[in-house]
Amino acid sequence: MVSVTGEDSATDAALGAVPATPAAGSGIPLVELREVNKHFGELHVLRDITLSVEAGEVVVIIGPSGSGKSTLCRAINRLETIDSGTILLGGQPLPDEGKALAQLRSDVGMVFQSFNLFAHKTILDNVTLGPIKVRGVKPDQAREAAMTLLERVGVADQAGKLPAQLSGGQQQRVAIARALAMNPMVMLFDEPTSALDPEMITEVLDVMVALAREGMTMLVVTHEMGFARKAADRVIFMADGSIVEESTPEEFFTAPRTDRAKDFLSKVLLQ
Ligand SMILES: Nc1ncnc2c1ncn2[C@@H]1O[C@H](COP(=O)(O)OP(=O)(O)O)[C@@H](O)[C@H]1O
Ligand SMILES: [Mg+2]
Repeated sequence: MVSVTGEDSATDAALGAVPATPAAGSGIPLVELREVNKHFGELHVLRDITLSVEAGEVVVIIGPSGSGKSTLCRAINRLETIDSGTILLGGQPLPDEGKALAQLRSDVGMVFQSFNLFAHKTILDNVTLGPIKVRGVKPDQAREAAMTLLERVGVADQAGKLPAQLSGGQQQRVAIARALAMNPMVMLFDEPTSALDPEMITEVLDVMVALAREGMTMLVVTHEMGFARKAADRVIFMADGSIVEESTPEEFFTAPRTDRAKDFLSKVLLQ
């Protein structure tokens, strides 16, 4: 099994400042949204979203295109502002701007559909840049930690290459390593495999399953039911900006309660 986080003390030291993460069982959710609303002009994209993710939980968000899943992820990172409601990370409200916001962004690891690696930097530099620039880790230590992470996601042998020289699946695994290098308190994944060729999806999902098993707190937007069944503690089904269902993966996939979810699942299952 690929080990992604691990209790490697050399790595932890090299990663520098560790975010103030409430301990598992402390009762403080790592991510909490309370009655969050967001409009884009006339469009009400997030409607009274109330949701919390506890330390160590893996929550999968599923739903039709346009239902607000990406906006929700972006709001948690404050890449989007919200109109009303509250978002708390580790029990603290999101900072508005400045250094505190930069710190928050580095505490939340984000992996997008498009890998967003720096095209003109090597794989190794892509992973070390954040720890060096944002966390103030010494370059040697950052490189050592990055190599450990690249090893864990199975692409250490690609460290000297540029992103374009790697396959999509390899690039996405680098993107995961890059997010992990910041030692985030929570990882958000927004359709991380939907831009990949089918044969590369598994290698990325395997890394995510390993992360989940090692206790990483994860919020994952995906239609990959295999992943949801293997790794999710909860599935949230969104439609038209609202949370329509919230249940265990088993319940959701075998006995969805609403017509919206039944209709959506019948379409996804046909693919
Ligand atoms: N920056 C934006 N400006 C205007 N409308 C947007 C913007 N981003 C997203 N939308 C719209 O908000 C709705 C929700 O989008 P999104 O959160 O991307 O949904 P999903 O990720 O579930 O497909 C869609 O109708 C989309 O077109
Ligand atoms: Mg989306």
